[in-house]
Amino acid sequence: MKDKVTKRKIFISPSILTADFARLEQECKSLEKSGADWIHCDVMDGNFVSNLTFGMPVIKSIRKCVVLPLDVHLMINHPEKYITQFAEAGANLITIHAESTDVVSECLQLIRACGKKAGISIKPETPVKVLEQYRGLFDMVLIMSVEPGFGGQSFIESSVDKIRQVRQLFPDVLIEVDGGINSKTAKKVIDAGVDVIVAGSAILGAPDRKHAIDELRKC
Ligand code: DX5
Ligand code: ZN
Repeated sequence: MKDKVTKRKIFISPSILTADFARLEQECKSLEKSGADWIHCDVMDGNFVSNLTFGMPVIKSIRKCVVLPLDVHLMINHPEKYITQFAEAGANLITIHAESTDVVSECLQLIRACGKKAGISIKPETPVKVLEQYRGLFDMVLIMSVEPGFGGQSFIESSVDKIRQVRQLFPDVLIEVDGGINSKTAKKVIDAGVDVIVAGSAILGAPDRKHAIDELRKC
């Protein structure tokens, strides 16, 4: 994946958390037209995090309007109950939280058995070493750089060091970062080894989404 001579590809995955849900089709198409690589879908259950968003039916609808890969971030307790349904709804990559279930390995194996890429995420307080026991079972690590639950929060600086640690421990997996990313914080996380940038407010709230995506990619 990584190339030491040319600059590596940075994927931009805009989060639709702050989209206008009454116009979700236009919102997703606008992100696709603006050069997004993936669409980041934040699924929250009001239990693992203190906010509620959407579930499988919305993923299914988004799947019909865009061709971009759907990057589904499950902030729900016991994701094992729903992984198959999210896969069937059209997710391409499914990320679960290490803190959300006692059967993390089984969840990651199930995601792959459904033919999807498996991601594992850790909250800001969770140490990187927790990931070691799941080595070989995931394609991507998602480092949360804010407390999961809400968009528009400030980037937690210690995430940069966590990204460096993940890059050292797992040289061959994708690293995604989520929370408080803008053109200033993007540079730090890219230098630390991130491959995929999630951004909500910095893209959805920008007057020109294409420009915002280009700026993040350039960092
Ligand atoms: C937070 C979500 C993020 C959020 C990012 O729990 O996982 O994807 O939408 O939003 P910004 O970029 O505004 O911090
Ligand atoms: Zn997210």
